[in-house]
Amino acid sequence: MDWAAALLQLASLLAAAPIATPDALPGCPAKCGNLTIPYPFGIGEDCFREGFDVRCNDSVPYLSSGNITVVNINLTEGHLRVKQYMAYDCYSEDGKNNDYNNPFIYLYGLPYKFSDSRNKFMAIGCDTVGFLRDGESRFKTGCLSTCNSISYIPNGTCAGIGCCQTPIPKDLRAFNVIIDSYHNHTNCWDFNPCSYGFLADDGWLNFSVSSFSDLRNVTYVPVTLDWAIGNQTCEEARTNSTAFACKAKYSGCLNSTNGPGYRCNCLEGFEGNPYIEDGCRGGAFCLVFLILLCSWLYWMIKKKRLVELKEKFFRKNGGLLLRQQASSLEGSARVTRMFTMEELEMATDNYKESRILGQGGAGTVYKGILPDQTVVAIKKSKIVNDDEIEQFINEVVVLSHISHRNVVKLLGCCLETRVPLLVYEFVPNGTLSHHIHDEGRRASLSLESRLRIAAEIAGALAYLHSAASIPIIHRDVKSSNVLLDDNYTAKVADFGVSRLVPFGRKCLTSLVRGTFGYLDPEYFLTAQFTDKSDVYSFGVILVELLTGEKPVASTRSVECRNLAMHFQSCLKDGRLFSILEDRVVDEGSPELLGAVAELAKRCLSLMGEERPTMKEVAMELEGLRRFHQHPWIGDNEEEGEHLLKGAECSNPSVMLGEGDSSVHVIQPFDMKPFDIMR
Ligand SMILES: *[C@@H]1O[C@H](CO)[C@@H](O)[C@H](O)[C@H]1NC(C)=O
Ligand SMILES: *[C@@H]1O[C@H](CO)[C@@H](O)[C@H](O)[C@H]1NC(C)=O
Ligand SMILES: *[C@@H]1O[C@H](CO)[C@@H](O)[C@H](O)[C@H]1NC(C)=O
Ligand SMILES: *[C@@H]1O[C@H](CO)[C@@H](O)[C@H](O)[C@H]1NC(C)=O
Ligand SMILES: *[C@@H]1O[C@H](CO)[C@@H](O)[C@H](O)[C@H]1NC(C)=O
Ligand SMILES: *[C@@H]1O[C@H](CO)[C@@H](O)[C@H](O)[C@H]1NC(C)=O
Ligand SMILES: *[C@@H]1O[C@H](CO)[C@@H](O)[C@H](O)[C@H]1NC(C)=O
Ligand SMILES: *[C@@H]1O[C@H](CO)[C@@H](O)[C@H](O)[C@H]1NC(C)=O
Ligand SMILES: *[C@@H]1O[C@H](CO)[C@@H](O)[C@H](O)[C@H]1NC(C)=O
Ligand SMILES: *[C@@H]1O[C@H](CO)[C@@H](O)[C@H](O)[C@H]1NC(C)=O
Ligand SMILES: *[C@@H]1O[C@H](CO)[C@@H](O)[C@H](O)[C@H]1NC(C)=O
Ligand SMILES: *[C@@H]1O[C@H](CO)[C@@H](O)[C@H](O)[C@H]1NC(C)=O
Repeated sequence: MDWAAALLQLASLLAAAPIATPDALPGCPAKCGNLTIPYPFGIGEDCFREGFDVRCNDSVPYLSSGNITVVNINLTEGHLRVKQYMAYDCYSEDGKNNDYNNPFIYLYGLPYKFSDSRNKFMAIGCDTVGFLRDGESRFKTGCLSTCNSISYIPNGTCAGIGCCQTPIPKDLRAFNVIIDSYHNHTNCWDFNPCSYGFLADDGWLNFSVSSFSDLRNVTYVPVTLDWAIGNQTCEEARTNSTAFACKAKYSGCLNSTNGPGYRCNCLEGFEGNPYIEDGCRGGAFCLVFLILLCSWLYWMIKKKRLVELKEKFFRKNGGLLLRQQASSLEGSARVTRMFTMEELEMATDNYKESRILGQGGAGTVYKGILPDQTVVAIKKSKIVNDDEIEQFINEVVVLSHISHRNVVKLLGCCLETRVPLLVYEFVPNGTLSHHIHDEGRRASLSLESRLRIAAEIAGALAYLHSAASIPIIHRDVKSSNVLLDDNYTAKVADFGVSRLVPFGRKCLTSLVRGTFGYLDPEYFLTAQFTDKSDVYSFGVILVELLTGEKPVASTRSVECRNLAMHFQSCLKDGRLFSILEDRVVDEGSPELLGAVAELAKRCLSLMGEERPTMKEVAMELEGLRRFHQHPWIGDNEEEGEHLLKGAECSNPSVMLGEGDSSVHVIQPFDMKPFDIMR
């Protein structure tokens, strides 16, 4: 249904409705039967202007003088339609006249004239001469029509064959019609025994052959009269204000177009009866009201549609799925705040381009400012299919289960829009990847910061794997999914492909997802992901932090393209320091760097089982950090250095204590940091 069209229809309907203005003088009947009788016309004493008397008999209005029935009165056009007799002249087969009517109609003493613009004199017949003679015998006018075969008669046009017509002059007040024939219809009697003549509304008769017989049963024809007030021009009439007919405040005066006299009208924008005081009312006022009404209606309908659309999007965007998820995990899930479409539009200045923080495969991230001045990041998803909607809901569900200093906070979401929107806390200083790799940011992080960031990421992942209310595997750990705030505190982000792991399950099977360069080779082969897959990816980040190299770089030689493999082979060859970033080497002691490298190597073990848990990694990194801050605890620098250079790291052998968070590591060298940890 097209609402706009319906509305337009309604508007035109309302516009067509009559505007309530008085028609008659106070206390006078305004109607006769169905017909409205507007002043200056009127029924009864003191109800009409002189000459405009209307008689109402049996609900039929007549002009008071004469036998003329009123059909219609038009105040704005100055017309009056009345019924009038027709002249006819009929013959029998032998040419004897057997029926004849020759009416005389007059309007003397009345303010009416036969309208020259609206009427035509017509004569119908095939042996016909028709005249119209004015009341004072000043002139005659008319036309003739003869034809001797019905087949010549054209249908639908009155053009001289079987029918002729002629205009009449102005100022005609009385006439009679005379019909004559040349041959008493003897030549055409079989199809046309009668002639007809009348003055009628132009267009009243659509002439055709059947008119010859149809007109026999017609007694009245409609004729239009022009009417006017008095016999003066507007200017003359105005001089006597008591006699002047245009009484209404917003009225004007028009000279009559048919003889002397004048008429009144309401000024532009006003409607009603100009002959009555206060008769002209502001049509514009009603129009304004109408426009207001329409725009209000339009607005309501639009709003309703918007609500419907929002509801549709909410459902399409998995709002119900989210509600269901939230209720099934009740208690553990924080209530996710639902933002409205308008709130977010306002916050992002209508998704202005200047507000874009980043763009990726999953969508666009905008900077937004909420009314309470909170700065937020708004992710506008690029969702095209159901699978991705599931991912989206997944992220909402996962994040609503998490509350950790080093995990980006989800503030809420908005499902009313075509694509769903996620609202996060704003983390101002970009991604870790940016700080490690981007031109101009290289070597900008101190070793201390790097260790802290690594420890923070490890802490967050350990929390996700074990401490959160339901274990969560991130599945897309990478340096571009780690954000830094203004103090360079790390925040793990992007939980689009993360999974909640039901209790009692160690691994889940799914399509391989993740980012090339960070992908756990075991997961890649088995398509089974476990928390150890995250450990592998974390190992890659750790190597990135140490080397400043990208996880995959086409600038490196083919065998070194994959950073994890490149790092391991360097470590194996004892060339660790050749691959470490200069700043890292400058700031760290060889033992420390060796230990971190060793940790990274364990994280990158091919077999998931051989990798430490995130919790172990977090604790170890925490210990190494403290060792870095207070190197005096370590006293065996030379030995460490020596061992590092000759390190044999081809056989990583790590044993994990069963059900025990303490770590026993058998290594080719003994590291002080682990002692600190214990
Ligand atoms: C009034 O109008 C109705 C409907 O248009 C019609 O049936 C009825 O005959 C009319 N009455 C008179 C008196 O004209
Ligand atoms: C009113 O009309 C009726 C029949 O229609 C007629 O008999 C009567 O004379 C009329 N009255 C007047 C005053 O014309
Ligand atoms: C009105 O017409 C009727 C019949 O057509 C006629 O008898 C009557 O005399 C006429 N009245 C006037 C005043 O012309
Ligand atoms: C008078 O004529 C105007 C214009 O033709 C028309 O809009 C209006 O409806 C007519 N009024 C009446 C009462 O017939
Ligand atoms: C006019 O119409 C009549 C029927 O209404 C038909 O018999 C006749 O042939 C038509 N004449 C012309 C010239 O079309
Ligand atoms: C026509 O009829 C009139 C009288 O009705 C008669 O005087 C006249 O001669 C007739 N004309 C013809 C041509 O038949
Ligand atoms: C004219 O009226 C008469 C009787 O009132 C009827 O028999 C005839 O069929 C009508 N003619 C036409 C053309 O309507
Ligand atoms: C104008 O009308 C008045 C009365 O209505 C009349 O006395 C006067 O003679 C008329 N004037 C003309 C020029 O018709
Ligand atoms: C003005 O018109 C009234 C009423 O028609 C009339 O009584 C009066 O004499 C006129 N005044 C003038 C100055 O013509
Ligand atoms: C009315 O007619 C007179 C004389 O023809 C003319 O001077 C005057 O301007 C006309 N007034 C209007 C309002 O047309
Ligand atoms: C990090 O944040 C601080 C404080 O907001 C700011 O001064 C600094 O320029 C930011 N650095 C980068 C690289 O964005
Ligand atoms: C950053 O550190 C300063 C000083 O320690 C502290 O006031 C501020 O709240 C920190 N900012 C964040 C986002 O943690």
